[in-house]
Amino acid sequence: MNVKPTIEKASEDGFALTFDDVRLRTGYSQIMPGDVNLESMFSRNVGLKVPIVSAAMDTVTEYKLAIEIAKLGGMGVIHRNLSPDAQALHVSKVKHNLNGLIEKPICVYENEKVSAVMARVEEKGYSFRSFPVLSREGKLVGLVTGNDFEFCDNNSLEIRSIMSTAPIFGKEGMSIDDAYGIMKEQKKKVIPLVDKGGSVVGMYIFSDLKRIRTRSAENYNIDTHGQLRVAAAVGTGDEEIERAGRLIDKKVDVIVIDTAHGDSKSVLYTLKEIKNRYNVDVVVGNVSIGESAKRLVDVGADGIKVGQGPGSICTTRIVAGIGRPQVSAVYDCMKAIFGSGVPICADGGITSSGDIPIVIGAGAHSVMMGGMLAGTEESPGEIQFYEGRQWKSYRGMGSLGAMQESRSSRQRYLQSDAEKNRLVPEGIEGLVPYRGKLNDVLFQYIGGLRKGMGYVGAGTIEELREKAQFDRITQSGFIESHPHGVKITKESPNYQGRGI
Ligand code: XMP
Repeated sequence: MNVKPTIEKASEDGFALTFDDVRLRTGYSQIMPGDVNLESMFSRNVGLKVPIVSAAMDTVTEYKLAIEIAKLGGMGVIHRNLSPDAQALHVSKVKHNLNGLIEKPICVYENEKVSAVMARVEEKGYSFRSFPVLSREGKLVGLVTGNDFEFCDNNSLEIRSIMSTAPIFGKEGMSIDDAYGIMKEQKKKVIPLVDKGGSVVGMYIFSDLKRIRTRSAENYNIDTHGQLRVAAAVGTGDEEIERAGRLIDKKVDVIVIDTAHGDSKSVLYTLKEIKNRYNVDVVVGNVSIGESAKRLVDVGADGIKVGQGPGSICTTRIVAGIGRPQVSAVYDCMKAIFGSGVPICADGGITSSGDIPIVIGAGAHSVMMGGMLAGTEESPGEIQFYEGRQWKSYRGMGSLGAMQESRSSRQRYLQSDAEKNRLVPEGIEGLVPYRGKLNDVLFQYIGGLRKGMGYVGAGTIEELREKAQFDRITQSGFIESHPHGVKITKESPNYQGRGI
């Protein structure tokens, strides 16, 4: 283990450090930022192509964001303010996204008017125009595609007059490989699958299958079956162990025991039970003290989530007076479990890309982000307009609103049985600027991490954890670090300053 004297010394003096207290020292480098390898681990057996995980929060990670972040190499943790069934459905949507098999294709009827179908496409916002065509009895009788609609100059015709009859179709259970082979051979872009009775039970689209089989999927974070990876959060106790079972049925990759205080009796019980009953990696948190991390590893945790109070919406440190500045918390936990093979995820407090190499340099294997991803197109919720700008909602899972709406949130903050007007929140509700597509947002974070690694001379995440050394900075150093003496006239995609 490479000791970090700056953090060590602060700890000896009774100080704990956070992101803005330190900067990484540069070192001799032969590393170009574009050449670094960002692969890392979220848990003992579950890897990441880039070390970024999205927070298990109801304004951050549902299936849409989880799909996108896995395609960018990271992983999403589906939040637990959903019913177990709904949460399992979100997991399932992520797992099936790359399957290629559309399990319930949208179909049209042969006696519908072209105009009616076009109107439905418009109204529902479908991005596709290929539909299996059914008889009124529900049997496959044809196929219409974008071409058929495009060449149709009379929208009052019925679908049966523009569809291709006797389409190529496959039998229920046809594999992706077989479907892909037939499509290539016959130059067909769509194959509906039918059961013995002739009802449509699935559909393959060539572009999906091609993407799965070609290099465009190279950076996706996928499991051994070629499906996108996803994690999901559970709470503690027997009901939540059941919830874990449902998520595991849907092939979730990692269960995250998601609590405000990971070093507690109920968490240890839940961890032991899940590990006894199921064969799945379990990441546990949150903790901020090495001894706590060690206790969880000894009971079987496959990953430790560190962070008590660093989050942008957290008020735990103010309300309860506890918590530990994040860089020291991560370093302490890393030291305590060094050599165990259990990775650390640093959860909360990232406000700019430079925070990522810092906290990895302190010992983390990945970072979890909430606020920085809540403003993306893929996060739940609509864009709002306020003071001439676009925003999205972001709230703490321990905020009054989240706790009033969800028992799960109340449980996370140990108030399961409290009445809704007798809650003590540990988070706030607010707005974050709308930041556009996740792809563009992550590009900046990943770009910053790559640059940090280049400056340190680290070609891999492991090397960054080893080589990183820090300077502790003063308030003057902090001021010097930020733009100063200049009126900023143009917003930068990777610099928001402190706060909003
Ligand atoms: P960031 O800084 O990325 O932090 O927005 C996200 C992390 O904050 C934690 N979290 C909370 N902590 N009260 C807290 O003290 C809350 O209401 C709350 N909600 C979320 C959580 O660990 C998340 O990943």
